[in-house]
Amino acid sequence: MDSAAQRPVSAIILGYGIRGRAYAAYAKTHPEDFTVAGLADPVADFPADAGCPTWKNWETALDSGTKADAVIISLPDRLHRAACVKALERGYHVLLEKPIGCTWDECQAIRDAQVKSGRLVLTGYVLRYAPFYKKLRDVISSGVIGELTSVHHLAAISYGKSAHAYCRGNWSVEAKGTGMLVNKCTHDFDLIEWWTKGRKCTKVSSFGSLFHWRPENKPAGAADRCCDCPQAVRDNCAFDAYKLYYERTDLRYHFADESDEAILKMIETSPYGRCVYACGNDSVDHQTVLMEYEGGLTIILEMESYSQQRTRITHFYGTRGEVIADEKKIQIMPFLGDSTTITPAQHGHHGGGDREIMTEFVKLVRGGSPARYTKLLDAALESHRIAFLAEESRKTGRTMSGL
Ligand SMILES: NC(=O)c1ccc[n+]([C@@H]2O[C@H](COP(=O)([O-])OP(=O)(O)OC[C@H]3O[C@@H](n4cnc5c(N)ncnc54)[C@H](O)[C@@H]3O)[C@@H](O)[C@H]2O)c1
Repeated sequence: MDSAAQRPVSAIILGYGIRGRAYAAYAKTHPEDFTVAGLADPVADFPADAGCPTWKNWETALDSGTKADAVIISLPDRLHRAACVKALERGYHVLLEKPIGCTWDECQAIRDAQVKSGRLVLTGYVLRYAPFYKKLRDVISSGVIGELTSVHHLAAISYGKSAHAYCRGNWSVEAKGTGMLVNKCTHDFDLIEWWTKGRKCTKVSSFGSLFHWRPENKPAGAADRCCDCPQAVRDNCAFDAYKLYYERTDLRYHFADESDEAILKMIETSPYGRCVYACGNDSVDHQTVLMEYEGGLTIILEMESYSQQRTRITHFYGTRGEVIADEKKIQIMPFLGDSTTITPAQHGHHGGGDREIMTEFVKLVRGGSPARYTKLLDAALESHRIAFLAEESRKTGRTMSGL
């Protein structure tokens, strides 16, 4: 492959769902930096003006010999390992959506393939690239609150988003890929890895369960689909699909066609119209993870489905002060001197992280060394190491220190 230093970086996108479409959009806004070399998806409607080859399957796309610098893997979690290993063997750089793999062994297989190929595997941890979180990291690493002693981090998913993804949707059944903690909170573990750079997490304990979206909590008279449910039962149900997708519009971006007609049809026919108490789901709906780091730093991560807001709130305690961040503002409260509040400008999905990760990806493809690429992957793997340890702790009741 010739150098991409002076021309747009080209990538084949495997999986043209929500994430695939988001990455493809970068080619429209930054044509000088990025171009789409092919699209693969069995069911997606590809744009009429795609201007590139299309395939029904990721494997056919990688076997086609199509010339490109990179592959973007925005496939369901369970396909990440096979697609990533093959893409690296074919010599492509990779932008791999999170989670890296569904198990620690799958993650290790990807790391082995990355080391062998010397190519980039950038993981879709968009929050690291979002201006808000970059600013927060600058504040924490500036020393203004001294040495960190503990961090309390809340990942509030919101009842609507959580019902969508972890009860009715792709991540509702653990055996089909990953459960809620590995899928959602590797974002949070990745931020934690970044905030605690250089310190090793030595002990992990976790507690959590599927508390509410269970068949025994189904209201009397409720049907298995919202479209068949009596109005009086639906009126009293916050998770009613009509309320989440028809009356509200903020979750509609999950569907390729956001029109009222398409949403009504979707509620009648798709898994997203099922009663939340009849989804056969087993993914947890709330979980707490306790972590101890070398040097004594302790961190609590709390993941919660039943929140009104979809946000992250982090409280940092240091030897010289406190910082509270809530994805809108950063309050800095040193023990000596004045408190200040910063409100970093943000625009775009994931606070601008979707755009900024693509900028970083293009930069890394254009110039990076195999050693740097491995270092980046190892940092992303640390979030998985902690998440898998937490899952083992939750399931066995033990405090974990291995992997
Ligand atoms: N970084 C983030 O913030 C973020 C957010 C959401 C999802 N994700 C991750 O992105 C990945 C995709 O999630 P999504 O929300 O876009 O899901 P999605 O279901 O919208 O998209 C996945 C697409 O893959 C396609 N697909 C399935 N089998 C295929 C095959 N054999 N060959 C080609 N395409 C195939 C599906 O048809 C679908 O269109 C997941 O791993 C998810 O965990 C990351």
